Amino acid sequence: MSSDQKKPKGAKTRADKDRVVIFDTTLRDGEQCPGATMTFDEKLEVAELLDEMGVDIIEAGFPIASQGDFDSVQEISRRAKNSVICGLARAQAKDIDICAEAIKPAKRGRIHTFIGTSPLHRQYQMSIDEAEVLSRVTASVTRARSYTDNVEWSAMDATRTEPDFLCRCVEAAIKAGATTVNIPDTVGYATPDEFAGLIRMIVERVPGADTVIFSTHCHNDLGLAVANSLSGVVAGARQVECAINGLGERAGNAALEEIVMAIRTRSDVMPFWTGIDTTMLTRASKLVSRVTAFPVQYNKAIVGRNAFAHESGIHQDGVLKYAGTFEIMTPESVGLKESSLVMGKHSGRHAFREKLKELGYELGDNAFEDAFVRFKALADRKKHVYDEDIEALVDQEIASAHDRIKVVALTVIAGTGGPQKATLTLDIDGKQQTHESTGDGPVDATFRAIKAIVPHEARLPLYQVSAVTEGTDAQAEVLVRLEADGKTATGRGSDTDTMVASARAYVSALNKLLAREARRKPESMLAS
Ligand code: KIV
Ligand code: ZN
Repeated sequence: MSSDQKKPKGAKTRADKDRVVIFDTTLRDGEQCPGATMTFDEKLEVAELLDEMGVDIIEAGFPIASQGDFDSVQEISRRAKNSVICGLARAQAKDIDICAEAIKPAKRGRIHTFIGTSPLHRQYQMSIDEAEVLSRVTASVTRARSYTDNVEWSAMDATRTEPDFLCRCVEAAIKAGATTVNIPDTVGYATPDEFAGLIRMIVERVPGADTVIFSTHCHNDLGLAVANSLSGVVAGARQVECAINGLGERAGNAALEEIVMAIRTRSDVMPFWTGIDTTMLTRASKLVSRVTAFPVQYNKAIVGRNAFAHESGIHQDGVLKYAGTFEIMTPESVGLKESSLVMGKHSGRHAFREKLKELGYELGDNAFEDAFVRFKALADRKKHVYDEDIEALVDQEIASAHDRIKVVALTVIAGTGGPQKATLTLDIDGKQQTHESTGDGPVDATFRAIKAIVPHEARLPLYQVSAVTEGTDAQAEVLVRLEADGKTATGRGSDTDTMVASARAYVSALNKLLAREARRKPESMLAS
């Protein structure tokens, strides 16, 4: 058993050889995908939850990519209690040196170095031949090993690499000291049988294969990421790289929650196990969805809103008589609690604090007071306040805690008569400014008013509205994505008034862009 593997309580009867190491890349591959950028604090929050949940290895970022990535990998390394903290590095000396520096504070750190091995990557991306790839594999793994005895090597685009050459690369990596060898399906091209065959071939043919852990890293371009990863495990891989909610480049990575629950639910045909506390999966999914502002598809396996909802009469009848008739796993096993009617306007601080605890939130005193005031205001306007309402409210409170721009007041004139008009007051660094704008509809007028107060060039590639709960008094949840200089930021806002929610979402995205801009050049958009 590798040092990465920690046996959960009560797992004595499970064989170490069947333990599947869960390597989470939400903060690296996931964060890399357009629009999913997280702030420093958000990354720490996600890492803390992954660590608590039993994730074996957290790939915390790509330290050479930016100062922000370096800082978050370093801070996560300092804070992690159980997980191995991993940083990504290309097959270049500087990447590896900086990665080693970033993971230094970790109790257990890993350097993950990679190079493209396929003919397409050799010819078009790097313009190097096979011999040069082999020499870079050896040099990069050797350098990484000079810093740590926990080194992962990845053959980028492995599934489109000539099998013989792939085997020679894997052999070189093992000889140079790699302890984990990752076989990525970088472009999501493989099929389950094919991928299993590839893993099996490598395990059988490469000298020294029995001394390392083989890993899968499957992208979801054909919707086969989870199936391919599980096939890889059946064929001999014992690490799966995955991400919460399947976040990742393009169509994403294998979804962590699906991998873990498939292994747990079908242990009859896949006799493997993981160290994940599955009752934390729903919380993790919600957290990642909140900080990235990426909504979870309603019918998404395991964590979708409908994953445990039974609509048809026959199904409902069956589940009421015996849940196993239509449920292959229990909602409790993934941490799903029945949505409950929370409280009304007469509920006090104590009940509210208890509810927050039950939903998994721990707020400091000031944040708690602000959330409580907003809860009271919501309960005044909305007859029934549900768990989802509280989550939307607190998520917004947390997300906007350090924002420089805040929505103070909004009045909108809408309807058929026109012109639609918005009068908006924003608080910017403690100073209030008001502007009145007309527009092509109330949303347009509101966004124009924001632009008039905070001039900026960002484009709006996404504006999306959904209801948090049922009923005409439901809170609207709005997502706004802004794009400036090729970078995107997504904001989320909620309120029983859709226009207020829209203004909050836009301002939230703008705050994220400003924060990023300020990190890059201290004289930010606002200051100029
Ligand atoms: O998809 C991929 O090949 C990667 C590597 C860096 C492991 O993300
Ligand atoms: Zn990837």
